Order: sequence, then structure tokens, then C-alpha cells
Amino acid sequence: MVNFSKSFSVRTKYGAMATVVFASIYVVGAYISRARKMSKEEHQGPRLTRSMSIAVLHGGQLALQRLFEYHEARADKSAVEIAECELKTHLAEQHPDYKKLQSVIGKLEMSGKEAQAVEILKNATAKARNEGRNHEAYEYEMLLVEMLIYKGDFKEALGRECLRHAEISDARRPLFKAIVHIIEGNKNEGTKYWREFNDLKEEFHCTPCMKESMEECQLHKLSTNFNEFEKVVDILKKDIIEAPLFSYPATYGEHKYAIPTHRTTCSSPVFFSDYWMVLKEIQNLCKNSSWSSSGLRYMQGKAETFAGNLSTQERIPYFVHYNDSIEFPCGFLKKFPISNSDRTDMENCKGVVVVSAIFNDHDKIRQPRGLGSKTLDNVCFFLFIDDVTLKGLVYHRLIPSKSKNYKIGAWRVVKVLSKGLYENPAMNGVIPKYLVHRLFPNSKFSIWIDAKLQLMVDPLLLIHSLVVSENADMAISKHPYYIHTMEEAMATARWQKWWDVDGLKRQMETYCENGLLPWSPSKLPYPSDVPDSALILRRHGLRSNLFSCLLFNELEAFNPRDQLAFAYVRDLMSPRLKLNMFEVEVFEQVVVEYRHNIKRGGGASGRQEVGLKGPKSKKTKRVGPDLLYVNGSCCGKCQKYLLEMWGESES
Ligand SMILES: *[C@@H]1O[C@H](CO)[C@@H](O)[C@H](O)[C@H]1NC(C)=O
Ligand SMILES: *[C@@H]1O[C@H](CO)[C@@H](O)[C@H](O)[C@H]1NC(C)=O
Ligand SMILES: *[C@@H]1O[C@H](CO)[C@@H](O)[C@H](O)[C@H]1NC(C)=O
Ligand SMILES: *[C@@H]1O[C@H](CO)[C@@H](O)[C@H](O)[C@H]1NC(C)=O
Ligand SMILES: *[C@@H]1O[C@H](CO)[C@@H](O)[C@H](O)[C@H]1NC(C)=O
Repeated sequence: MVNFSKSFSVRTKYGAMATVVFASIYVVGAYISRARKMSKEEHQGPRLTRSMSIAVLHGGQLALQRLFEYHEARADKSAVEIAECELKTHLAEQHPDYKKLQSVIGKLEMSGKEAQAVEILKNATAKARNEGRNHEAYEYEMLLVEMLIYKGDFKEALGRECLRHAEISDARRPLFKAIVHIIEGNKNEGTKYWREFNDLKEEFHCTPCMKESMEECQLHKLSTNFNEFEKVVDILKKDIIEAPLFSYPATYGEHKYAIPTHRTTCSSPVFFSDYWMVLKEIQNLCKNSSWSSSGLRYMQGKAETFAGNLSTQERIPYFVHYNDSIEFPCGFLKKFPISNSDRTDMENCKGVVVVSAIFNDHDKIRQPRGLGSKTLDNVCFFLFIDDVTLKGLVYHRLIPSKSKNYKIGAWRVVKVLSKGLYENPAMNGVIPKYLVHRLFPNSKFSIWIDAKLQLMVDPLLLIHSLVVSENADMAISKHPYYIHTMEEAMATARWQKWWDVDGLKRQMETYCENGLLPWSPSKLPYPSDVPDSALILRRHGLRSNLFSCLLFNELEAFNPRDQLAFAYVRDLMSPRLKLNMFEVEVFEQVVVEYRHNIKRGGGASGRQEVGLKGPKSKKTKRVGPDLLYVNGSCCGKCQKYLLEMWGESES
């Protein structure tokens, strides 16, 4: 074989690629307790990282380092996206830093991006080999083998050429073989390679007992014990085989129609703190008994509609909160039809809740990704569905038809008997979207996520960086294009996102008449009047609850297109909402967006978003550019608004 092997062995002696196991007792202990836990929970348990398990095996500084990076990377999608960038960058360098590469690879694995990493590494290996850079080709291929193991492609991993070079002193060769054989149940082979690994790593003279820590020293002993090794591999095996939080039948198509985004840089627009620190901080915040979870008293009783069908004049006085004993109208003037056991579970959710809803079978259920290992124990995930959606889930056998308490992956699924509520499923969908604080009266923080989105970052990290650290009541993304409410209204009419154009007109006229102004710098620190409301993060308290109640009342009065009422409510309410309107780049970083379900035979036209357009029986009215024109003359009550928006007023 080529003589790069010699130089490589020398290299390793200086520690560049030293692979000596000295896992910590702490780590192995954590693994063992997790193993016990997993057998109880079966695959309900959180998906744990496989690289954490391999880190235990790998040993050496690299392994420890990866362990430290584990939570940062795993629960932080931005770190992972950067990792993909970094991987490509490192591979393109003249003198690749293998240590860095190794840790980047670890990050990719942690986020389930093994497939991408495998492709990138295969290309890099082939390229290096073609160009005669054999040492690099060998190193890349070793990384590739590791990634293939993570991915569960054991055969392919064992077949790679780099594992045949017995002349190279690299402890990873027998290590990887030992792992695969143990996973595949060949204990004898596994033991053989394990011994070889142990012999080989002795050559590195890198005894952990030289280190300061006694703990590491004890660990070294542990790591030389085959039974411990086998235990750890078993956990790795479980992680590989039970990787996803939930597996859907292929027909369900959870991941169809993702909408691509175009990120160009390696830098992240949002910073996330350390997972463990965040977990602790949020737990403490939620425990604080002096939390005034509401400060609002709500109107009770019965009405014709869910929110009481208040007129404009009836709604306006509630915008100013001046007396704690005033009862606010905030939905629930009709019974919200869910089962008692669901209601109890919802009331028991006392910290952070993530809420979503699928009405009219409009979306797929998508599982959150990047969850930290303690998140499912500390955050409730609730998904509201109606009968139509339920039928679809039963059809795909995601829910047994007779069962009562539905759980699909992370989501606790709650069926709403929506017949008695609103005629329009989209209107029913905004009940959990805006009245989270009433559905979960004991929760302290919430994240609303449209079912067209998949959460890619741990919800605790999101709440921490977008709400807690910003000292905000609410966090929401800016709209990618619009800053004035009127722009959104015109687009809504133009693209027929709402069928009742006269209603839109009435709504805008009402808002102009009652004080809505176009966005201008005088509204700062609010940077825009139009949000993308598919993701809403809230700290439940007086201001955000007031905002949510007022907004919901507007939705009932006009239509479920919540962007239109957003600035009107925000600007007129008092006390003022502390709002973090973040950049679209952040939004794109923390969620993946998918298209809604395509409805077969849904609408006549190409646009088939039935759920948003209201009942099919109503005729869709085409609009010209006439949203602005009332009885032939421009703009009616919005004349002043429009002049200001177009910059034509003198001010
Ligand atoms: C790898 O190489 C193939 C064939 O040359 C190419 O189509 C593909 O885009 C490459 N993938 C990456 C991630 O560079
Ligand atoms: C609890 O909340 C109160 C009021 O919001 C605050 O002043 C106090 O510092 C909090 N206590 C802890 C332990 O966070
Ligand atoms: C809502 O109130 C209006 C009058 O203010 C009335 O015409 C309408 O029928 C009411 N709607 C319902 C569903 O009660
Ligand atoms: C609040 O309203 C109640 C009932 O209307 C009244 O008795 C009370 O004095 C008011 N409190 C304040 C501070 O205005
Ligand atoms: C438009 O004209 C109709 C009939 O002439 C009238 O009933 C309606 O109130 C007018 N609308 C506005 C906003 O002036």
C-alpha cells in the first residue's frame, strides 16, 4: 500500500487522531440509566443522539469535546446548518483539520443529517483519491464509515476500503468493526475486534491517568471492560434503530412538499444559549409562585357565538385595561367541546406548552426535531384536530379507531367536536392559536406552530432566546414583504385568500376609522405592522393575554386572517405589548415550511386552500384592484391611511 500510512501513524502519536477510550463514569452512568428508562418507555422516549453513544466509544479528547458540543448542536438547528457549511469549507481546505472535521460530523449526525454528510464525504473521498491525496482520502473515508454506522448502513460501512489497511495503526478500524459486529449480534467477532482495539490503543501511550482527574482514571478501567463496551453499543444500536420520534407509514407523506429557503451564509441570525442552563432557568421561571399568570378576569356565561358576537362599538372599550375587576370577553362563551380527560391533561400542563391544530385535514402531523433530552419531560405538545382530520389519521392507521387518548410521536392529540363551533374550520383553528392561555390556564409560556411548519429547534431554546432573553411578552416573525396592514389586505383580496372581499373592505374601513395608521418610524420599536403568524411565542401574562383576547374578538368579527387585525390591536391596546418581531431569517432557521395538503377535487381553480377560504358553498368573488375603491371614489375612510402610506401626506 502507499506509504502515507507511516506518516499517518507518526501523526497520531502526537495526538492528532488519538483514539483512546476514557469515557467518564458520569457518561456511562447516564447511559445505563437511560437504557433502563428506554425499555419502559419504548419508542415514546426522546430520540437521543447516537454520536453521544459513539463518543463514549470513541474516547479521547475528541469524544469528550463532542460530548460537550452535543446539546448545543442537537438542540440548535442553526449550529447544525452552520455545520454543513463548515464541513464543506473544511473539506475544501488545503490542509484539512481532521479534529474539527470530526466534531462537525458529530453535529450533523446529531440533527439527523447523516444522509447529507454521507454524500458530502463520499464525494470528498473520491475527489481526494482521484487527485492522489491518499492520506486525505483515508481520513475522509474513516469519517464516512462513522457516518454510515450512524445512518445504519452497516454493510456499506464495513465494506469501505479504509478498514482494510491493517498496516495503519488506527484504533478506529477495529473499533468500528467491533461496533458493527456487536450491533449485528456477532458477539464473538465483536469481542475479537474489541481486543484488537484495546491492544492498538495501548500504542498511543495516551493513558488518561496522566490527566488531572481521578474520575477519568477510574473511567479508563471501566472502558477496558468489554461488558461496559457492549452495553454502550447496545444503546447506540437502539438509538440507530429507533431513531425517529415516530415513524409514519410511507403513504402518509409527512415530508412532502417542503418549501425551500435560500440561506447563503454560514452565519446564524439567532443565538441560543446552553441547553442545560436554559432548562434550569425556564424551570425556575415556571416554578415562581408569584407569577401572575393572567391578571385578566374573563367573562363567563353563554352566547350565540364563541366570542359573543360583539359589535365594533362593544369591542373597543376593552382595549384599555384599567381595572382588574373588569371581566373581559375572551371566547368560551360557548362550550369548547373536548373530552374531560383531555381538559384535565391540558390543565395539568404547568410550564411550557407547544400547540398546533389541524382542522379539515389540511396538513400533516409533523414531529418536532432537535429536541433536547429533557424536553419531552418538561414541555407539553398538544395538537387539536377535528373529525375530518381524525378520519384521515384513522385511515392512515396512525390512530386506532377505538382509542381515546391519542398520542402521535411528541403530540398529544385532542379531538374537538367542532360542529357546534364555527362553520369555517379555519375559524375553529384560531381558537387554539389565540386562546392558548385559556385552554392551558396553568401554562406559563406557549409556542403556537401552524401545522404547515415543522419545528427544528428545541422549544425551550426558542422561548429562552426569543422571549425570555428579549424580555418580551410575545415573539413573532415579521412578514417577508409587507410592513403595512393595507398591503396585506390588498394581497389577501388579490390572491383570494379570503372569499369575502366586501368583508375585508369593511374591516379595513373599520380599522382606519378607529385609529389604525400605516407603519412609520414613530411606531418603533415595533418594526412592522404585518407578522407572519405561523409561529407565535408567548409569555402568558396580562399584556399578552389581553392582546390575544382582543385579537380573537376581531377574528370573530371579521375573518380568521389574523394578520389584518394584528397592528390594529397591538397599537390601540393598553398597556402596551412588549413584542419581539424577529427577522424572517430567524423564522426560516427555526422551522421548515411545507405546503398544505392538496385537496382532491377541492376547488375548481388552481388554488385549493379550501380551509382558508371558508365554506365551499359561498361563491368566491373575484376582485380587481378595487379593494381601495368604495362606490367609485377612492378609499373611503382609509383615504388618510393610504396617503400616509404612499408618503403623500404632509407631516
Ligand atoms: C456529489 O457528486 C455527485 C456526482 O458528481 C453530484 O451530483 C452531487 O451533487 C455531489 N454532492 C455533493 C453534496 O456535493
Ligand atoms: C418571581 O417573580 C417575581 C415577579 O415577577 C420576581 O420579582 C422574582 O424575582 C421572581 N423570583 C424568582 C426566584 O425568579
Ligand atoms: C351577531 O350580531 C348581529 C347584530 O349585531 C346579528 O345580526 C347576527 O345575527 C349575530 N350573529 C349571530 C351568529 O348571533
Ligand atoms: C374597578 O371596578 C370596580 C367595579 O366596577 C369598582 O368597584 C372599583 O372601584 C374599580 N377599581 C378601580 C381601581 O378603579
Ligand atoms: C355605497 O353605495 C351604496 C348604495 O349607493 C350605499 O348603500 C353604501 O352605503 C355606499 N357605501 C359607502 C361606504 O359609502
